[in-house]
Amino acid sequence: MATTFTTLLLLLTLLHPFTTTAIPPASPVQCNGTGCVLSNAYGLWNVRTPCTVPSVLYPTTEADLLAAVATAIKSNLKLKLVSAFSHTIPNLACPSTGDAAAVLISTAKYNTNVDINVAERTVTVDAGVGLRDVIDKVEAAGMSLVAAPYWEGVSVGGVVSTGSHGSSWWGKGGAVHDHVVAMRLVVPATRSEGYAKVVTVLAGDPLFDAARVSIGMIAAISKVTLSLEPRFKRSITFSFQNDSSFENDFMDLAKTHEFADITWFPSQHQAMYRLDDRVPLNTSGDGFNDFIGFQSTSMIVSTAVRASEQVAEKAKSIKGKCSLASTALGAKKLVAFGLKNNKIMFTGYPVVGYQGKMQTSGSCLHSSSLDLLSSCAWDPRIKGVKFYETTAIFSPQKFRDFIQDVKKLRDLNPDNFCGIDNYNGMMIRFVKRSTAYLGQPEDSVVIDFNYFRANDAMTPRLSEDVWEEVEQMAFFKHGARPHWAKNRKVAFLGVQEKYPHMSQFIAAKKKVDPQGGFSSPWSEEIFLGKEAHKEDGCALEGQCVCSEDSHCSPSNGYFCKPGLVYQEARVCRYSSAATAME
Ligand SMILES: Cc1cc2nc3c(=O)[nH]c(=O)nc-3n(C[C@H](O)[C@H](O)[C@H](O)COP(=O)(O)OP(=O)(O)OC[C@H]3O[C@@H](n4cnc5c(N)ncnc54)[C@H](O)[C@@H]3O)c2cc1C
Ligand SMILES: *[C@@H]1O[C@H](CO)[C@@H](O)[C@H](O)[C@H]1NC(C)=O
Ligand SMILES: *[C@@H]1O[C@H](CO)[C@@H](O)[C@H](O)[C@H]1NC(C)=O
Ligand SMILES: *[C@@H]1O[C@H](CO)[C@@H](O)[C@H](O)[C@H]1NC(C)=O
Repeated sequence: MATTFTTLLLLLTLLHPFTTTAIPPASPVQCNGTGCVLSNAYGLWNVRTPCTVPSVLYPTTEADLLAAVATAIKSNLKLKLVSAFSHTIPNLACPSTGDAAAVLISTAKYNTNVDINVAERTVTVDAGVGLRDVIDKVEAAGMSLVAAPYWEGVSVGGVVSTGSHGSSWWGKGGAVHDHVVAMRLVVPATRSEGYAKVVTVLAGDPLFDAARVSIGMIAAISKVTLSLEPRFKRSITFSFQNDSSFENDFMDLAKTHEFADITWFPSQHQAMYRLDDRVPLNTSGDGFNDFIGFQSTSMIVSTAVRASEQVAEKAKSIKGKCSLASTALGAKKLVAFGLKNNKIMFTGYPVVGYQGKMQTSGSCLHSSSLDLLSSCAWDPRIKGVKFYETTAIFSPQKFRDFIQDVKKLRDLNPDNFCGIDNYNGMMIRFVKRSTAYLGQPEDSVVIDFNYFRANDAMTPRLSEDVWEEVEQMAFFKHGARPHWAKNRKVAFLGVQEKYPHMSQFIAAKKKVDPQGGFSSPWSEEIFLGKEAHKEDGCALEGQCVCSEDSHCSPSNGYFCKPGLVYQEARVCRYSSAATAME
């Protein structure tokens, strides 16, 4: 059985990683004599259309960046920035749809300056500097960056642009942009000013709240200044509970533990509470967080996991997915999801370590030219996993109602959620209220989950009706706001009404970028959240909500039907009877 084989392989890698090194991701920009194609780290945007651009520029200094923006504005070109990593799912970084004159500016080589100001407790970095690099330098200087996403393979400019976050309702909160104290931006300027200029924005300036979380639509971020705190350690314990009450407990958890989060495994009826607190620097322990999902995966395993998923999909074998879900959860518990008390292994809770080693991880990124056998699991160069990622951000009260709805849906057939649990379940995190216009307007709860994406756009997936219903419950029934860096297109429908400071953002954009150089049809599509023309099969990849069977896949037996719990939902559901009748 393919599934048993995969389970074995998976267990082997979980318990004895084959390798400790990996091939680094490929550059997201590939050029030849005729032009360039921009991709993301997954090799898959939220749409299948490739992003083609005539050329890409690689500034190494602020002066270069200024010149690049000036040239683009002078020639009336569309322009966007992209980092060396391009880890964002919506193709916000694509400057054109191939027809318009456009230029792409990469910050891959604008990554040298990391200036620490000990007296002020700040660090100022070039926008292309990678998160790991900043953290290591800051820690070496005796300080810590308090908030960061859990994944270290990102640039500071990219993180601040998309509102990326870790988890905390304490202090300034879990989102990185709320730790920004100043930025230097390159903005369009008049001809007499040379078409572009550098401006510094500080808290209190109107542009400050627009430019943090500006999804690449306002200006080029040149430098970011982040506030720091004296270096500290953290103590982490994962506590496993049944899932009967986490929707009532989460506020207490977030209030009692500075860096709390919850991972919910709906098919397994389990919730994992992360009890995660700051401890004094002299607490013993030098552990680290090497999150299992971000460890390097042997190509053999990635390919086998993908192949067995495809076998289960083709055979419509939910049970196959479920046996993997329960075995994998058991194996991950044994290794504490990658927490290690020392350099090598997990020996017991709590795991205590420096902030710089506990907040964020990504060992699959680190390269060795000697080992070509492993990579990040989603690396498009291997035939590994392909998935969607839905990230919905709720007000706490609505979050509770949402979870109760999802539980009703789960209770109809828990096995329908095995496919989500295979991708690490549903992660629940906390983000504090922000004054950034496209940030969170209230203390919020973020839920994040991944699920199978087929190799081609027209192939439906097992349990797709259930996950579409969860997606529509989140964004339409309970009014969740979409994370700008994640999600399928449907999640953005109506987004303009969900961010109360949207009009201020638009006003700031008009003022700073009157020519609309930093806008493209791709970013507008996400940002405006308008419903597009519905094509055959559009609901399969989350390009639309189905209203006719043709938006699903009648030839494969998937028809447009109402939700099971949220009746107003319209989802693509498999019906063997209906195919047989045809
Ligand atoms: C494995 C994985 C785990 C993740 N975990 C988390 C998590 O825990 N929490 C979370 O919130 N997010 C998470 N993310 C999402 C990630 O944080 C965002 O996608 C982030 O924006 C990626 O940064 P990047 O440097 O790759 O940006 P890119 O994808 O290169 O760019 C993102 C956006 O910012 C713009 N941009 C980039 N640089 C500049 C600049 N200098 N000036 C102006 N605009 C710019 C781009 O045009 C684009 O619109 C994760 C992603 C992955 C792949
Ligand atoms: C060059 O890239 C373009 C896309 O920009 C592609 O259509 C073309 O086939 C490529 N040519 C070669 C020789 O690889
Ligand atoms: C879940 O755990 C709680 C104690 O933490 C217990 O009171 C409750 O009965 C359990 N529920 C189920 C369904 O096992
Ligand atoms: C840590 O330092 C504090 C004083 O700064 C002291 O009171 C405490 O006993 C120390 N703890 C350990 C474990 O050394």
